[in-house]
Amino acid sequence: MHPDKPEALRARKALPLKGSAAVPGDKSVSQRALILGALAEGETRITGLLESGDVHSTAGALRAFGAELTRNGPGRWRVRGTGVGNWRPPKAPLDFGNSGTGSRLVMGAMATTPITAVFTGDASLRSRPMARVVEPLLAFGVRYEGQGPKALMPLTLHGAAGAREVDYHVKIASAQVKSALLLAMQNVAGESSVTQDTLTRDHTEKMLKAFGGDVRVTPLANGGERIDTRCAQLRGCEVEVPRDPSSAAFPLVAALIVPGSEISLPAILLNPRRTGLIETLLEMGADIRVSNRRVSGGEEIGDLLVRHSRLKGAIVPAARAPSMIDEYPILAVAAAFAHGKTVMMGLEELRVKESDRLAAILAGLYANGVHAHESENNLTVEGMAKVPGDGLVKTHMDHRIAMSFLTLGLASEKPVIVDDAAMIATSFPEYRDLMARLGAVMETV
Ligand code: S3P
Repeated sequence: MHPDKPEALRARKALPLKGSAAVPGDKSVSQRALILGALAEGETRITGLLESGDVHSTAGALRAFGAELTRNGPGRWRVRGTGVGNWRPPKAPLDFGNSGTGSRLVMGAMATTPITAVFTGDASLRSRPMARVVEPLLAFGVRYEGQGPKALMPLTLHGAAGAREVDYHVKIASAQVKSALLLAMQNVAGESSVTQDTLTRDHTEKMLKAFGGDVRVTPLANGGERIDTRCAQLRGCEVEVPRDPSSAAFPLVAALIVPGSEISLPAILLNPRRTGLIETLLEMGADIRVSNRRVSGGEEIGDLLVRHSRLKGAIVPAARAPSMIDEYPILAVAAAFAHGKTVMMGLEELRVKESDRLAAILAGLYANGVHAHESENNLTVEGMAKVPGDGLVKTHMDHRIAMSFLTLGLASEKPVIVDDAAMIATSFPEYRDLMARLGAVMETV
């Protein structure tokens, strides 16, 4: 997604939010459904696909590798894959826009096929470190040329021929790195493994199994896990994409902080590795009720009912970070309206997201009169009875910073302006309309 011009948006104090909000499909699951569909043999039928900038970027790259992707209706896509190892070399550089997940997972997926591809993206993606993915891939015999020691984009990746098996320990708590390795391992004859000391989102493992992959997960004594896998021909299947909890987080927190609100959020993905925000908000006293828990498309889902709540500060342990890694900006906003102080620990990964999110959160809070500080990757937010607002927030090409501070503006004393709301379309194109249906009107400035 490359919006031509920044679009400033203003949010002001809202009347009570009411109604039901159908948030779009999960970004992580949508990306994986397209990538696995493109690797598999035969046809994959997807429903509920997120149709956002990031997902379109990945779709474009997969077409360039030779997969056929067709849109049959809203969220209904058909993918005809090439079979593992049969991707062809793209004729032009692959533009992944803002999508870290798309670019990193596709690097893994092509790494053990002897083809060359050039990866690029927007200014945000070009400044994000890719060494964390390409260095582990060197173990398969991959070669690359990137920009500087962090292997920034544009980056040229030469996939390996006849790659050998690899046992790799992933040190950082990243589902993207784990997933890139697992995808690369699908074209390696022998038995390979990935171990990780922390439990990161497991959508790749689950979906590989649904596509007929040979994947075995073993818990480790240290709380981590080992994933063993070997080459098995992946076959297209049906994928039902659940609704994205990371997108639901914005209307959810809006309902918690706007007095008198009561909203429902049906059919939200409740994979336990994605529910750290809900767990934290419940500890803070949030009135969130989960009902009708069920399994859909191999994932746990449930309906949420959220009411305005008197929140109190909380200590959020570092161990919880992987299960809510994308939710710290919106948690910081909830914390600003809580009674007492909230301390969020172990946030070093926030520095390498779509922006340096730790810096962007602090600057956004400061601009709106909220006291917060950072030390040793811990963020402390002092809650206030009344949040002043009146800030102009810099989004730094980060969709979640934009939505978080628009949320703050719905309950602060004075309106909040975010300098560029166009990036919201990378993950949640219907955000503004959906919020308007709940009663929150945001104005273009
Ligand atoms: C994602 C993993 C996380 C997350 C990102 C989506 C995924 O990134 O922040 O939005 O789909 O695997 P890391 O793997 O870098 O933690």
